[in-house]
Amino acid sequence: MLAIMLGPPGSGKGTQAAKLSQEKSLVHLSTGDILRNAVKDGTQLGLKAKTYMDSGELVPDDLILGLIKDRLKAGGTKGFLFDGFPRTIPQAEGLDRMLTEIGSRVRLVLDLDVSDSEVVKRLSGRYFCPSCQATYNYPNKLPRREGICDKCNVPLSKRKDDSEEVVKNRLKVYKEQTQPLQDYYKRKGLLKTVDGERTIDAIFADMALQLDRTI
Ligand code: AP5
Repeated sequence: MLAIMLGPPGSGKGTQAAKLSQEKSLVHLSTGDILRNAVKDGTQLGLKAKTYMDSGELVPDDLILGLIKDRLKAGGTKGFLFDGFPRTIPQAEGLDRMLTEIGSRVRLVLDLDVSDSEVVKRLSGRYFCPSCQATYNYPNKLPRREGICDKCNVPLSKRKDDSEEVVKNRLKVYKEQTQPLQDYYKRKGLLKTVDGERTIDAIFADMALQLDRTI
């Protein structure tokens, strides 16, 4: 099973992928999380990716395809749920080539439909714990003590790319480079558009049903 979560920044890809992968025993593979960890650990990949990420630009395709190839080679799983990958047509074509080599293919693309104004609202309210990575959202998911992680008792941080200016650029980059993937997967009959402006539970139920129909 190989499914993809598509959608603009802040549309809820990570939130839904975490729940779905647990429920359906799939490996949640988030290129954003892999890159943020690489930046935090100061690896070669992190050093190369940081400037792109901080400004809301995409990391070059060859770096991303390299890290996906390594993960696919490791195998040993019932399936993958990709979150934030592919993000360009060359990445989608590269993924198709890699999957053909191992006798596999993309089975489903879940596309979260969320307006720009909702994206801006969600990302301006997003905070995370730098210690355990738990996320919070004002006003939807508040910590018990303002600005402090419930579990670790440390002050919450904001992602650098969640500043107003960078979010604007992330949306622009999404429209120019990622949105064309909707047509790419529609032509293959794999695209399912999901209304992403409902409760997290309602969206989850919808997506879980789509996965059940595909598995
Ligand atoms: P990445 O981490 O993938 O960022 P993104 O796609 O911009 O998505 P986000 O993580 O911001 O949002 P999300 O859709 O996961 O939403 P979330 O669930 O968190 O990438 C970051 C950067 O890395 C890129 O800009 C690029 O530089 C680089 N990169 C990554 N992958 C790459 C690739 N393949 N190629 C090249 N470069 C790459 O939700 C957002 C907020 O909304 C949360 O606070 C959440 O609690 C809240 N929320 C979620 N659902 C709901 C709901 N239904 N109602 C109300 N609030 C909600």
